[in-house]
Amino acid sequence: MGKPVEPEYAEYITAYNTFMQPALQDAINEFGPLNGSCGLDAGCGPGDQFDAFAKKVGVNGKVIATDLSTVHLKEAKERSTTLPSIEVIMSSLDLTKPLPFDNNAFDWVWCADVLWSSWFENPQQVIDEFARVCRPNGKVGLFYNGWQRTQLLSGHRHLEFELVRVSDTILRPALSSDPKVDIEYMAGWLRQAGLKKVNVTTHTVTYNWPLPPNAKPYVDCVLEEDYLPALDVTKFSKEKKEKLKCLLTPGHPDYIPDQPHYFCCKTGILAVGEL
Ligand SMILES: C[S@@+](CC[C@H](N)C(=O)[O-])C[C@H]1O[C@@H](n2cnc3c(N)ncnc32)[C@H](O)[C@@H]1O
Repeated sequence: MGKPVEPEYAEYITAYNTFMQPALQDAINEFGPLNGSCGLDAGCGPGDQFDAFAKKVGVNGKVIATDLSTVHLKEAKERSTTLPSIEVIMSSLDLTKPLPFDNNAFDWVWCADVLWSSWFENPQQVIDEFARVCRPNGKVGLFYNGWQRTQLLSGHRHLEFELVRVSDTILRPALSSDPKVDIEYMAGWLRQAGLKKVNVTTHTVTYNWPLPPNAKPYVDCVLEEDYLPALDVTKFSKEKKEKLKCLLTPGHPDYIPDQPHYFCCKTGILAVGEL
């Protein structure tokens, strides 16, 4: 089961998707949903990729969007009102269960930033289901942001290593230590499910100081909502934590993203397999 979703989490996802949009658009181009095709956006969240998919499939295509969270589904439904090719299934759909779709129902399945090892104990089962509902010659695309390798604190590399380590291993522990459950195993999941021509590509965004409005909200969210809580959990002394807090607090004169040396980058990773 996915973790319970707080309402404000949708804002975080949208800030992330806005920051990553050039990389996501590039990844969706690489994935290449065809005009007139029928796809599944599995774990669609608030629907940030609907515009991109609607453009790809055109007026004769269809995208079925599902998610576990009814909070996200409501947001997604609103986003879809002007996009007739997008159909949001409003009842919560848990990807850990068999999918309520026939064999060969879709030309493609897209699943972005969902199959984290902190949420899914058996991602292979999910991919097997994606393969079942996809027609012969159809495609499955799995995307995730390599956030463990992110660079959002330029000039403070070692601090970022520590905050990401704490955030990833202590605050969001994996449900299993089996490497086959880790999202970096995704090419293996696709091959195991019988997909061919499995190919992994990277899609990066880079932003320079001063951060543009499409990038700043996400950087602020990560520093405030991930890095500051992680700092609290580190073994640094109280005095050191107090000093470091200033670097991570939006609005403080020492806030790292407001310094003229600042740049940041993040890489999304896409694995595509064909049936
Ligand atoms: C980080 S968001 C990504 C949303 C969307 N794919 C995107 O690219 O913006 C992860 C999504 O996975 C959903 N999720 C988590 N566990 C799930 C599960 N077991 N079944 C279906 N969706 C799940 C969450 O509700 C959330 O909307």
